[in-house]
Order: sequence, then structure tokens, then C-alpha cells
Amino acid sequence: MRAVDLIQKKRDGGELSREEIAYLIQGYSKGEIPDYQISAWAMAVYFQGMNARETGDLTLEMAMSGDQVDLSPIAGIKVDKHSTGGVGDKTTVVLAPLVASAGVPVAKMSGRGLGHTGGTLDKLESISGFSVEMDREQFFAQVGEIGAAVIGQSGNITPADKKLYALRDVTATVNSIPLIASSVMSKKIAAGADAIVLDVKTGSGAFMKTLEDSIALAQAMVDIGTHLGRHTVAVISDMDQPLGYNIGNALEIKEGIEILQNRGPQDLREVCLFLGSQMLVLGGKAKDEAEARDILEHHLADGSALEKLKQIVAAQGGDAGQIEAPDMLPTAKTLIEVKAEASGFIESIKAETVGIAAMLLGAGRETKESQIDYAVGIRLAKKVGDTVTEGDVLAVLHVNEASADKVREAEDKVREAYRISSQPVPPQPLVFALVTKDGVTRY
Ligand code: URA
Repeated sequence: MRAVDLIQKKRDGGELSREEIAYLIQGYSKGEIPDYQISAWAMAVYFQGMNARETGDLTLEMAMSGDQVDLSPIAGIKVDKHSTGGVGDKTTVVLAPLVASAGVPVAKMSGRGLGHTGGTLDKLESISGFSVEMDREQFFAQVGEIGAAVIGQSGNITPADKKLYALRDVTATVNSIPLIASSVMSKKIAAGADAIVLDVKTGSGAFMKTLEDSIALAQAMVDIGTHLGRHTVAVISDMDQPLGYNIGNALEIKEGIEILQNRGPQDLREVCLFLGSQMLVLGGKAKDEAEARDILEHHLADGSALEKLKQIVAAQGGDAGQIEAPDMLPTAKTLIEVKAEASGFIESIKAETVGIAAMLLGAGRETKESQIDYAVGIRLAKKVGDTVTEGDVLAVLHVNEASADKVREAEDKVREAYRISSQPVPPQPLVFALVTKDGVTRY
């Protein structure tokens, strides 16, 4: 076999066999096929697509390229949750303790963020002492004892995806449904969950900007999971504005704690309850979504979900006192208000632009080596649909060490992110659709 023939076959719209996909992925992993040939193949896939069988084969090949985690020592149905990524998305911080408090074991391996704001691990590390590193035995023991653990991807999970994703990032081949679907699902399959709830974001701040593309991506991932024997559902949720009000690591932990205190922003609470309900149903703890929602609301109201977060934090070496008293979490020295330059109604808030503003303040990494400042970020004061009068505060920047230039740039970005209309803006849906193996339910 020669890589050039496979590139040509895909370029001309052909279908690659299992063996041909294995040849490309294994050859690339071993360094026998160079970046430039895999770049050309990825571009051919970008334009020609892949059918469900090819996408499934690519997923398996990448899942098998490194370690595969066996979660069977943990009793119960292990349900994983994965978000395709968004600004202000702190759902894992809420869902791990909430779902665990309802009896579904959460053995979560999360990632860090590059660009925009930090990932789940960065958010959790804003709690003093919190460690995301532990060996397999400790991980299993913690999930067994308290029902949940959130750790970094240890060992060598899907190295082929890591290499391919880095290449796609710099060759304009990220936004391809089969490539995203196989990349996400290879990691989920290798991480060993029995069932998977996907949160596929849609809108200006998401990979998929339109609802139809988001549904197509969700269907591709549900198909892969289903064919590989993992019960998989996908929720399509809004990313036309950041989720909640807080963007930045400690700020996001504080907002997650508010939800666990049975208060906090309605949009974040709603998305968490929707995703959590799916997790409970898949985890066999509720017969349907209505029953699951009741259970979750009960755990928010009686404080048991918040208590579970304290247990997780303490078990992972963190200061649970900061969960009791979130003011003790890292706090920025300076607050800078960004004010509206027009009156009207907030029509949209470009999530990606707000994310870049937060990164400029130090909440995310510009390069792999960048140090995150846990305290900094942005707290929105206005969300879509709100009325605004010229001079009102749109958002507050939480600033520490960023240079005056960066702060000015962040201020400009936040102002640019807000679109103000003269017409009232009707409430926007938060959850657009649920995709299961049986089809698509639109809301
Ligand atoms: N997230 C992933 O893990 N992979 C992609 O390709 C896109 C988003």
C-alpha cells in the first residue's frame, strides 16, 4: 500500500477500507507516513467526507492507538459526559458531584484548554491543593468510595488522535464532521465508559455554527457509539452566547458552586439538569427524564450535591473550605467595567470573542507554555434579551497582571462581542434537540 494512492482515492471521492484506514493511522503514529501526506488526506476527507463505516473504522483505529482504560473494577454503569466545547461551560464541575450524589458513578478524565479559557482541569486546579493526577488504583478507589473523581488523561490515551488533531489545527481541517466525530469518540471509547452523553454546542461560539450541522455531527457520534456497543445520546445546546455569567477559572468554579447551592444562573442550571437527566437515565437510576430531573432537583435542594463536591475536592487534596466559602478562591485585584455605547436590547454575545478577551487577561493559554492566572476573567452583566441603556455596565473584567495594552484589547473585544438591537429580542432556546439512536427530537 502507498499513502499517495489512498490520498488520491479519497480526493476522488472513493471509500477507504478498514485496512487502508489502519495503514494510514498506524503509519502516521509510527512516524512512517509524514505530516504532509496526512495533511493532504485530511484535506481530502474535509472535502469528500467519509461514510459511517469509514468514520467508525477511523474511530476504532485511533482508540486502539494507545491505552484503553478498563473501568470494570468500578461497580455500576459508568456514564461519561463530553462537551464539544464552549465559553463559560462549567457543566462538568456541577455534573460530576450532582450525578454522583444521585448514585451514578462518575469516572471522569478531562482535558486542559488551549486558547480561550481553561479546560475543566484548569478550573478545578483553581481550588488550592486540588490535584488532577492519580494512578489507576487511586482513581478506581475514589470512585468506589465517594462516587466520583475528575482527573487528567493519564498514560497514553489515543496518541494517534493527539497527533492528528494537532496537525488538523494548523492545516484548516478541524471543521470536518467525520474528523471531529472520530476524534471525540475515539477518546470516549478508549476512556472506557459504558454510556456516553454528548453535549454538542451550536452557534457562533461552537465548531458547528448551524443547528443542522450540529445535528449531523451529533448523529455521526451517536452512530459510532451505538455501533461500538456504548449507549450514546447527544444533546444540542446553545453556544450563541457564553453559558452562565462567569468566564475564567475560579470565577467558573464560583458559579458552579452557586448552582450546587440551588441558585445561580438559570441557563447553566437548565443545561446541567438536562444533561444530568440523560446521565441518570443511561445510568439506570431513573426510568425517564422527568423522574431523573426530580431526583437531581432534590439533590440540589437538600445540599447533597454540594456536599459531594466538597468530598471530591477533599479526596483530591483540595481545600474544601473554599467550597464552603467561595470568596476564599483566587480573586483578582482590579475590576474594570465595560460600558454600553448604545441603548436597546442585547441581541447576541459572540462567545468566541468573549473567550479571547478572557484569554488576553490570562484566563486561558495563548501557547502550551502559557501560565494561567486562576483569578482573572470576565463576569457578564448583561445577557441576550436584556435591555440596556447607554452607559450601563455590559461586563466586568477581573484583572491582575495583564499589561495595559492587553486590558484595552480585552475591553474592545468584549464591547465588540455584544450586539445591541433596537428591537426586543425574544427568549432563545437553550436546548435545541436530543439525538438518540432512534432519531432526533427537536424542542
Ligand atoms: N474536540 C476534539 O476532541 N476533537 C475534535 O476534532 C474537535 C473537538
